[in-house]
Amino acid sequence: MQDYHSFIGEVLIEEEQLKKRVKELGEDISRDYHGKEILAICILRGGVMFLTDLIRHITPLVAIDFMGVSSYGAGTRSSQGQVRITLDLTTSIAGKHVLIVEDIIDSGNTLASVIEMLQTRHPASLEVCTLLNKASRREVDIPIKYCGFIIPDKFVFGYGLDMDEFYRNLPFIGVVDLEKYEAGL
Ligand code: IMP
Ligand code: MG
Repeated sequence: MQDYHSFIGEVLIEEEQLKKRVKELGEDISRDYHGKEILAICILRGGVMFLTDLIRHITPLVAIDFMGVSSYGAGTRSSQGQVRITLDLTTSIAGKHVLIVEDIIDSGNTLASVIEMLQTRHPASLEVCTLLNKASRREVDIPIKYCGFIIPDKFVFGYGLDMDEFYRNLPFIGVVDLEKYEAGL
């Protein structure tokens, strides 16, 4: 059984930095949506921790819903081909101010599919809030209204982001030392 301490290459974003930035994003969103109702759509599973922290700093009315999307296989490999909806929303988004809450945008393929699909349901507005943005990896252009941090092209984990489904519970964002992880050290 591996303990994550053995394969953290570095702590990229400390818990305190995350807290500060998430609060700032919540305040920006609150200002922009003043007097409106928000429907925050969390992309499962990586966006969960970010969503629950973010909405604590949102002052306009906010409802939440969840969408499951499968893009990556196990481990750290990047997505190939089609994105699959594994869990759909339970609420109608027609006429609503939808804010997609995502953990990380890498190639952009996942979110491009989600946005395309949600646009067909006629929301009043549709914006994206991502905690992390691996901008250098982008393959499709995504309009990002709110972004926590632009990060380098490294595989990260913690604060909702997984490695083989584990380590989502870490309160910080770490970079994997892939050699150690794959060697099982
Ligand atoms: P995209 O379709 O390439 O933009 O991939 C986006 C999805 O891949 C994210 O929502 C994450 O679930 C996953 N992902 C991308 N990079 C990482 C990473 O560094 N760590 C963990 N998950 C990642
Ligand atoms: Mg995700």
